[in-house]
Amino acid sequence: MLKSLLIADDEESIRHVLTLLLSERGYEVRAVKDGEEALAELKARQYDALVTDVRMPRLDGLSLVRAAQEASPETTVIVMSAYGSHELAIEAMKAGAYDFLMKPFRPDEVHLVLRKAEERERLRAESRWLKREIERARGAGQNGMVAESAPMKEILRVVAKVAAAKATVLISGESGTGKERVARAIHEQSPRAERPFVAVNCGAIPEHLIESELFGHAKGAFTGAHAARRGLFEEADGGTLLLDEVGDLPLNLQVSLLRVLQEGEIRRVGDSRTSKVDVRLLAATHRELPQLVSQGRFREDLFYRLNVVNVVLPPLRDRLDDLPLLARRFLERHAARLGVEPKELSGPALEKLRAHRWPGNVRELENALERALVLSEEEKIEVAALPDSVLQAVAPSGPPPAPAEGDLSVKRAARALEADLIKRALERTQGNRTKAAELLELSARALLYKIREYGLE
Ligand SMILES: Nc1ncnc2c1ncn2[C@@H]1O[C@H](COP(=O)(O)OP(=O)(O)OP(=O)(O)O)[C@@H](O)[C@H]1O
Ligand SMILES: [Mg+2]
Repeated sequence: MLKSLLIADDEESIRHVLTLLLSERGYEVRAVKDGEEALAELKARQYDALVTDVRMPRLDGLSLVRAAQEASPETTVIVMSAYGSHELAIEAMKAGAYDFLMKPFRPDEVHLVLRKAEERERLRAESRWLKREIERARGAGQNGMVAESAPMKEILRVVAKVAAAKATVLISGESGTGKERVARAIHEQSPRAERPFVAVNCGAIPEHLIESELFGHAKGAFTGAHAARRGLFEEADGGTLLLDEVGDLPLNLQVSLLRVLQEGEIRRVGDSRTSKVDVRLLAATHRELPQLVSQGRFREDLFYRLNVVNVVLPPLRDRLDDLPLLARRFLERHAARLGVEPKELSGPALEKLRAHRWPGNVRELENALERALVLSEEEKIEVAALPDSVLQAVAPSGPPPAPAEGDLSVKRAARALEADLIKRALERTQGNRTKAAELLELSARALLYKIREYGLE
């Protein structure tokens, strides 16, 4: 949206009237009396639009339009022309002005011209946003989060609560637990939902490019910067910016980021001008930020700034109640994408999924099911269609080891089986021993004893 306007006219009365007219409408207006002053102003601050006369002392309107293209290419220029200066106005349009106003003008004419320019700016922003959304939709697909397990339901409650505020939220969790999914949910439930959601993976961008990626750059700021470019903060203006893998942000950028958070203003690389941005920041990380802080690799002040609200996503193995519904969601989604009938999981296949440790969490589950859907020839998805990594589910806590081949001891085999069953019961109940004991048909005391004996705490 156009917010800040610069007016250049040598006539005091025009400056006065326009300033009054436009301030009333909520624009931030500054008025100067000739082209030179206007140019200096454009170099000092970022203006969304310039409304300029063509006949002015010192630098005339036409030269100003040309210089503005160079100094501030994204500023929309509107020229005002009086009787007798139409030739100049036409030249100005050719030089890149967007529209013109005929003097004398009525207030509604001024508003109309600005509204048109605004509409164009809005369409541009929208098409940028749509382009990004389409790219996303290709990879991501359906919205909506699955939350069956108690910890995920609690997370949904927190999401609903923080969505309305502008507070920064730090989302942490192992890889593939759904951190970006949660960030999108916060955005979608926030008053900013209609505005852009922009995600940037701080760990995936080469270090020397992060700054210009985030804050944009001026033309010629570095080799290869042929044109000025807006950064992701500006792209996300009015919306939400997710700094993914924020723990990977180099220290010098942590300083810049902190400054932006404190001042609400950004400066493009190689540009001396600042501009205001209104962005809600979310951050995600699979690392332990407090640990990075104590190692001096993450600034403590930035950590506190980001960690206003903390959402911790538990690993999938600790919320197996989500598994059946997630599985169904992914099978349906991929079936639709592949143009085949959706299939269900067989009972034994679901048991196998429950027993797996899921180091890659929800993403690993999604990939495993997509593969299974492609491979499966039966009516349901059977164990055989699951990837080896899932089938080889080995107990992570060593004791007691499964009996070696050739070992015919019933005692040792029974102990291994018992330990395995207890482990699964504890996973299924998220560590709730009372419930686990019920499933195992053991007394609570017996279970406690066996947990200690097998080292399963
Ligand atoms: N609760 C959920 N309901 C539905 N889909 C989910 C849920 N959690 C995660 N997903 C899906 O799983 C995939 C991985 O999630 P996402 O990309 O959000 O994880 P991440 O934590 O950001 O992973 P990484 O650390 O690797 O960046 C995505 O396709 C996402 O849509
Ligand atoms: Mg992610």
